[in-house]
Amino acid sequence: MTQFKTILVTGGAGYIGSHCVVDLLEAGYDVVAIDNFANAVEDEEGSPALQRAEEITGKPITFYKADLLDKPQINDIFDKHNVDCVIHFAALKAVGESMQQPLLYYQNNLLGMLNLLEIMRSHNCYQMVFSSSCTVYGEPEHLPITETHPTGSITNVYGRTKYFIEEMLKDLSAADDKWNIISLRYFNPVGAHPSGLIGEDPTKEFTNLMPFMAQVALGKKPVLTVFGSDYNTPDGTGIRDYIHVMDLARGHVAALSLLSSSHIKLRVYNLGTGRGVSVKELVSVFERVTKTKIPLKYEARRLGDITAMWADATLAKNELGWTTRHSVEEMCTDFWRWQTMNPNGYPKKIKKSVIVINGKS
Ligand code: NAD
Ligand code: WQD
Repeated sequence: MTQFKTILVTGGAGYIGSHCVVDLLEAGYDVVAIDNFANAVEDEEGSPALQRAEEITGKPITFYKADLLDKPQINDIFDKHNVDCVIHFAALKAVGESMQQPLLYYQNNLLGMLNLLEIMRSHNCYQMVFSSSCTVYGEPEHLPITETHPTGSITNVYGRTKYFIEEMLKDLSAADDKWNIISLRYFNPVGAHPSGLIGEDPTKEFTNLMPFMAQVALGKKPVLTVFGSDYNTPDGTGIRDYIHVMDLARGHVAALSLLSSSHIKLRVYNLGTGRGVSVKELVSVFERVTKTKIPLKYEARRLGDITAMWADATLAKNELGWTTRHSVEEMCTDFWRWQTMNPNGYPKKIKKSVIVINGKS
């Protein structure tokens, strides 16, 4: 096995992708990033998130605005670069939208992955880290959740795209021994880079707890709705395993080390802290560290929401040598720093209007 040099990051302009790129550059990798800006901010120069990742690290990123559904375009990028490994973040991820537009989700997430795998194979690149999700487990049968917990009993289309891809990767790995793939099942990523320069700024509607709560704290939204206070949990609200996005990013660097040193074919790892935190607990930590007050409104449970989920991340500890380092307090502090330094997110592309005076512009 050889040490990897060039990593192609799909969805690199997105939330987790841009944070991971920082860690990849700091670990000494060359990064080629692609994104079609389906859910990321674009400016005149490309991706403001990636420009700031360059600023943080002092290292350059090669970026292409490209769509995984455009096979010739992606093929050209692989022709230009000697890609050692792909980290595949690019996907659509809004659960509600996936229920309304299932074909969009199946096309983007499944076809995007198929195109990528075919192009990788034709370029003799068989190493991949795939962004999977704890959503593949459905309603937990036991807690904490180990990687051996059954998957597939999922109630939303987005989650099914992740499950179908994992099944596809199993078939591929069984059919062709050359593949060397790690599927990382993320729990609930939150927080931002501690510099406050990069963070979460989706262009599509979002409904996740942490960014919504921050909008309320900023006064951009009036109230945080707590979906369900009658769950069978100590305080009645839903429990999740929130993980700092920089811990998650480091998990990818650890995955690359394993892929470059061993032929493991296909392995799956949970990336979580191993600790469950309720909605009420997260709100109270957020209020304490940010010195804000979040007005709450209690409503019925959100359709399809699970009661409680947290990871058993022992396998990642034993095989990747990875454990989380950041506390819930740091998740809130870092997210808040990003939000207050960038209340409107990244600077958006301004449409140039040309003023014509006496025939001269
Ligand atoms: P994100 O939307 O911020 O990033 C995904 C990026 O992929 C976006 O910038 C989007 O523009 C791009 N993209 C989508 N389709 C594309 C296509 N066809 N071609 C090129 N680019 C495309 O989301 P994120 O939170 O950074 O998530 C990254 C990955 O992690 C996704 O695969 C997501 O499903 C997975 N994941 C996310 C979470 C979470 O809560 N954020 C949890 C578990 C798994
Ligand atoms: C967390 C908790 C809500 C918003 C989603 C996706 C999942 C995965 C992670 C990608 C729950 C409660 C939320 C609000 C609330 N993504 N909540 N008021 O539901 O665990 O998972 O993101 O793979 O696929 O479904 O995350 O942040 O939406 O909710 O009370 O305004 O906060 O009910 O208990 P979730 P979330």
